[in-house]
Amino acid sequence: MEMTFAMIKPNAVKSGLIGRIIDRYESAGLVVCAVKMHQMTSADARGFYAEHVEKPFFAELEAYMTKGPSVMLALGGENAIAKVRAINGATNPAKAEPGTLRYDYAPSMTENVVHSSDSPASADREIHFWFKDEELYAYETASKKACCIL
Ligand code: CMP
Repeated sequence: MEMTFAMIKPNAVKSGLIGRIIDRYESAGLVVCAVKMHQMTSADARGFYAEHVEKPFFAELEAYMTKGPSVMLALGGENAIAKVRAINGATNPAKAEPGTLRYDYAPSMTENVVHSSDSPASADREIHFWFKDEELYAYETASKKACCIL
């Protein structure tokens, strides 16, 4: 059992896709352990995407991520990190497999509708960037307990 961080980005929120995206995650057996809506500030974007601040695409990424609210999610389940990455598809939607969220909904590399953690270390950092421990809920689903506290 592991946890991962996922984010529904501003263009997906504005397109009314929140429910459809969370349904894809829940239908794959993942459980929502924490959720919040938040519009990133520039400081948030610089902190959350610290590894990209010096990259040439950062200014465009920052403008996009601060233009409207995103939905932040902590998701739990077996192989949660790999499952969410597979559901999301490749970062570049032109390379995303049919049936993935980015194939279905992303108009460009920057506006790629969702984000998720790529390793246990990034999941830990990203979950705790947005959530306090007391905002993470471990609970029983009909099948089994699917959230854990990192
Ligand atoms: P995300 O998974 O949130 O991680 C970094 C984000 O930067 C990425 O999705 C895209 O939204 C954006 N981005 C724009 N251009 C690039 C690029 N060339 N390589 C990686 N990420 C990019």
